[in-house]
Amino acid sequence: MPGSWITVEDAERLAAERLEPGVLGYFAGGAGDEETLRENREAWRRWRLLPRVLTDVSEVTTRAEVLGGPVSAPILVAPTAFQRLLHPDGELASARAAAAAGTVFCHSTLATVGPAEVAAAAPPGRRWFQLYCFEDEGVTRALREQALAAGYEAIVLTVDAPPAGNRERDVRTGFAIPAELRVPSLDAACGPGREYTLQQTFELMDRSLDWDDLGDLVAEAGVPVLVKGVLAADDAALAVEHGAAAVVVSNHGGRQLDRSPATADALAEVVDAVQGRVPVLVDGGIRRGVDVALALALGAEAVLVGRPALWGLTVAGEEGVRRVLELLTAELELALALCGVSAPGELTRAHARRGPAASVYSAQVSITE
Ligand SMILES: Cc1cc2nc3c(=O)[nH]c(=O)nc-3n(C[C@H](O)[C@H](O)[C@H](O)COP(=O)(O)O)c2cc1C
Repeated sequence: MPGSWITVEDAERLAAERLEPGVLGYFAGGAGDEETLRENREAWRRWRLLPRVLTDVSEVTTRAEVLGGPVSAPILVAPTAFQRLLHPDGELASARAAAAAGTVFCHSTLATVGPAEVAAAAPPGRRWFQLYCFEDEGVTRALREQALAAGYEAIVLTVDAPPAGNRERDVRTGFAIPAELRVPSLDAACGPGREYTLQQTFELMDRSLDWDDLGDLVAEAGVPVLVKGVLAADDAALAVEHGAAAVVVSNHGGRQLDRSPATADALAEVVDAVQGRVPVLVDGGIRRGVDVALALALGAEAVLVGRPALWGLTVAGEEGVRRVLELLTAELELALALCGVSAPGELTRAHARRGPAASVYSAQVSITE
């Protein structure tokens, strides 16, 4: 029950107990050896927060602006696919929870509920639509139009998944998206009632996408276009040049290119390359309010959480997602006060210090051996 878990890791443990191995492997797993998946979490832990003292923290708020609009905390719900595999309410529960918590819900192209249905069933809230571009341009256009007609305020173009990564857990368990699970975008692309492996799903996507296509999308969209899945500073600069409204530093939760850098390690370089021209957001491995504080200190405007929301959804549906968001927000508020700042925007790089590197410990081990 919700009262019995007090951290994101508690929710993760409870979710892992409930899910059958194929579904758990799909949601928890990463690509290849899962080095990047592990690193995403460990890299945040290698940073330290340097607190300032005697700064009057009698009034502390987590409220912030993201992409020009208000949020109760700079902690957004990342786009994740197939949520009805975890809970019958699926994306409806996540969208309602995000709205209730006062933050942004990102709706995946591979959602099991369409954008219009979410808009009708969830209370007013900020919603962004994550876009994968199908080879069939008509499908992509129709999806985009549905989302914009339903009041979604931005498009998040995910650029790190031309093909799907090698998710070996899925191969071992033989995981496939069951034919009875409705996925409106896939139904539109291929007709309903088919079973898909993840690889087959991504074979429907357009691998030829390039920077000019981003420029075209920006010109046509009529809403801000965020580019999600950037790790290289040069790509961040190109995204800005081609009209991106924000850059999301992400490696897709370690599910695409194994051994790509952890997002905590890529963030500062991207922030420097962007030079304040657009906001930089980050996701991957964020499990604690102090991770959020570090991301903000390193220059992110906000973070997104993927699996934490999914574990909350598994354990307690809408209430569970809301609880995860509230836990992270409460942890962030405490971190802000203990860092000696009163609001998220007051964290700066002066609050972030590199912690002891893992290599220091391995060097010590080899010396003593
Ligand atoms: C099960 C799962 C499904 C995902 N589906 C999508 C998706 O459909 N579109 C997308 O842009 N990112 C997708 N992502 C990536 C997330 O948006 C996000 O980048 C990642 O989960 C962040 O890492 P975290 O899970 O450690 O918080 C997915 C991630 C997971 C774990």
